[in-house]
Amino acid sequence: MLVAIPDVLTAAQVAETRKILDAAEWVDGRITAGHQGAHVKDNAQLPPGSPAARQVGEIINNALRANKLFMSAALPLHVLPPMFNSYEGGQTFGTHIDGAIRVLPNGQRIRTDLSCTLFLSAPEDYDGGELTIEDTYGSKTVKLPAGHLILYPSTSLHQVTPVTRGRRVASFFWLQSMVRDNGHRAILYDMDVAIQRLGAENPTHPSVISLTGLYHNLLRQWAEL
Ligand code: NI
Repeated sequence: MLVAIPDVLTAAQVAETRKILDAAEWVDGRITAGHQGAHVKDNAQLPPGSPAARQVGEIINNALRANKLFMSAALPLHVLPPMFNSYEGGQTFGTHIDGAIRVLPNGQRIRTDLSCTLFLSAPEDYDGGELTIEDTYGSKTVKLPAGHLILYPSTSLHQVTPVTRGRRVASFFWLQSMVRDNGHRAILYDMDVAIQRLGAENPTHPSVISLTGLYHNLLRQWAEL
């Protein structure tokens, strides 16, 4: 399941983050690539833990914590600090699958259940640079407005097509979900969306209470903390 989360950052926050990122020192993205990734990866990255990465990372983390749609779709347990990449002049990241295990700054290892890309360039400012994701029902092409985020299972093959004009700046990060199974998480998300819709139309309907209870009982069955 791919979920697009609109307006994670406001236009003002996108402008602020771009100001910080554009003034920062970028390095060759291959230094953080795994064995297989190094052959297909051609981009620039902010060094993880650099002052600019931390500063913008905090803005993004605060925005994510306040975002109900993100929380419902991801059910996050651990979120890795946001990282940043930039593509220009034909740069690309060929087809790959992200590594299964990553390490939090405190040394704790987490399983990557979901991959996130937060777009920080307006689509009209660059050509190419589509994120193409192999989903259960075929290949999906994603190119979202600045400030919007796409959430997709880390088990998916994906690529970033060459950027042939302008520059594509994005934040990317991974998270371990409380619900490991993509199918279980999709059921909970669909159920939550339906309950919210029903509750908005008919807040006192007794079925809203029953269905909310069922949602939590399913979450209790499937959550690993
Ligand atoms: Ni990737």
